[in-house]
Amino acid sequence: MQMWRNKIIFVLALYALVLGVASAQKPNDIKPLPGSEGDTLTREDARMAYLVYKLLDKDGNIIGADLKRGDKLFFQNCRPCHGEDGMRINFNPGGKPEFIGIRARNDMPTFWYQMNFGDEDRNMEAYYDEISLDEMRDIAAFAKTLP
Ligand code: HEC
Repeated sequence: MQMWRNKIIFVLALYALVLGVASAQKPNDIKPLPGSEGDTLTREDARMAYLVYKLLDKDGNIIGADLKRGDKLFFQNCRPCHGEDGMRINFNPGGKPEFIGIRARNDMPTFWYQMNFGDEDRNMEAYYDEISLDEMRDIAAFAKTLP
């Protein structure tokens, strides 16, 4: 009887040891590459992460943007509603006016999210499937130059 108990305790202890070693070996050094099969980020999270990790420098400027192309793309895609200078829609009608340029300068994550995924309740379209990532980078940088 006593021997059996010792055996069971020994096996359990071994099992716990194996589990412990296995989980200790699991830390984040096996991260899935962004966009790879094992990457479980939603497309929203992936897009926002791209902005933070790839597009913004430490001063909040957009890296690698072509402002001229941004101007052209803004004119084609955004001007019909937001106006050529971005001042046709005021996002804060009750208070201090907020236009697309102000939003892009002060709160790029919100600007970026809205441009990508829109806002059905407010009739802002989602451009995720319409405008390429590089083009969005250019639009975002250009929008920061608007009043
Ligand atoms: C069909 C008209 C239309 C087009 C085209 C359009 N927008 Fe909008 N956008 C809107 C409306 C309407 C709102 C919501 C305004 C409100 O709620 O005050 C909005 C809101 C936004 C906001 C949210 C601002 C905030 O912080 O609340 C951003 C950013 C934005 N648009 C960017 C863009 C960009 C960039 C483009 C071009 C790629 C674009 N929009 C094209 C109609 C449009």
